[in-house]
Amino acid sequence: MDTFAFIIHPIDPKRDVSRKFPWLGRVLNERQIDFFSTFFPPVFISEIEGITSQATGKQVKGWFIACPYTPKRMLELPECTVYRKIIQTGRLAEKLGAQILGLGAYTSVVGDAGVTIANALEVPVTTGDSYTVTVAVDAIREAARVMEIPLQESTAAVVGATGAIGSVCAELLADDVARLYLIGRREAALEELRDRLKPGARAELIVSTQMDVLAEAQLILTVTSALHDVIHPEVLRSGSVVCDVARPRDVSAMVAAARDDILVIDGGMVDVPGPVDFHFNFGFPPGKAYACMAETIALALEGRFEDYTLGKHLTRARVEEIGLLARKHGFRLSGFRSFEREVTPQHIETVRRNAKKTHT
Ligand SMILES: NC(=O)c1ccc[n+]([C@@H]2O[C@H](COP(=O)([O-])OP(=O)(O)OC[C@H]3O[C@@H](n4cnc5c(N)ncnc54)[C@H](OP(=O)(O)O)[C@@H]3O)[C@@H](O)[C@H]2O)c1
Repeated sequence: MDTFAFIIHPIDPKRDVSRKFPWLGRVLNERQIDFFSTFFPPVFISEIEGITSQATGKQVKGWFIACPYTPKRMLELPECTVYRKIIQTGRLAEKLGAQILGLGAYTSVVGDAGVTIANALEVPVTTGDSYTVTVAVDAIREAARVMEIPLQESTAAVVGATGAIGSVCAELLADDVARLYLIGRREAALEELRDRLKPGARAELIVSTQMDVLAEAQLILTVTSALHDVIHPEVLRSGSVVCDVARPRDVSAMVAAARDDILVIDGGMVDVPGPVDFHFNFGFPPGKAYACMAETIALALEGRFEDYTLGKHLTRARVEEIGLLARKHGFRLSGFRSFEREVTPQHIETVRRNAKKTHT
């Protein structure tokens, strides 16, 4: 049977360490977990079974393995130390017999986004970022539909637009909407992106380094690599949709608490084909995975054992190809979730009603 492995890591240190080691999660505080993670070896988490292609009936087996560093640790430590630990984790995948390796969350953000890691390993590597783009953009289109926001006349924003994922999301959304804000911290990089996208774009493109322009956006796709939330309730427009692809999250939990007139959805969740059992709770309901995991699995189902998405410059061609491959094998955009909870049709209806009240 063909195989894959996927690297995960703790994001919320106490919660995530408790999921594998309940006792350690209880006795250590966050700072201690951060500190000890430096010395911890890679951890075998679980075997993944039951994944079955809808197109071919092929089954694949996989493994979750963990790099013990938290995002904070990955930013604090020298890049070469972080690479070393991720490569060590990749070697565990090789020992298990994985034929392709996916880099989860921050392990795909560090440094050159997988290039150095792939060069050091025998097993082919992918960051999963191409399919993350497909799923994030599909999610925002679907959210616009259910919120009755006319996509082609809408104003949208991509926060973290200069990033690996953000820049291709912007490229795709520039074909869909009327006005698109490209938001980031570096004006020159944003202008460069705008100039690159402008010739083919349907939308008017506006760059900004200020979050307060979000007050104009009906659709927001946010995907920064910030360690802390960057989107706060007071800047958002009533009736808007915010699709948060970032891990750690970009949207402050205050938005859910303070704004019942805004739809916040987690970007990047998909249904996995077949009776999958991950044998590990990573915070999703059964049968659902992050898009970056799904990219790795789809490549295994297709038998494409090659370095796939690597580096900070994603291509639209790869994004479109993996979208088709994943669809063929049965991956589907999942229902929406918001702050780890299911978004029900009643919730959407309530948001729409509250937004209408604010507008009148
Ligand atoms: N949901 C999923 O399935 C999934 C899959 C893969 C990745 N991710 C997540 O996606 C996020 C982005 O990944 P990426 O590979 O695109 O990262 P990246 O290439 O490093 O891009 C990060 C972007 O965030 C901006 N940024 C960084 N820190 C910021 C801050 N403090 N305030 C505002 N903007 C900031 C950067 O702006 P500058 O240009 O100014 O540096 C850049 O535009 C990460 O959180 C990652 O964990 C999620």
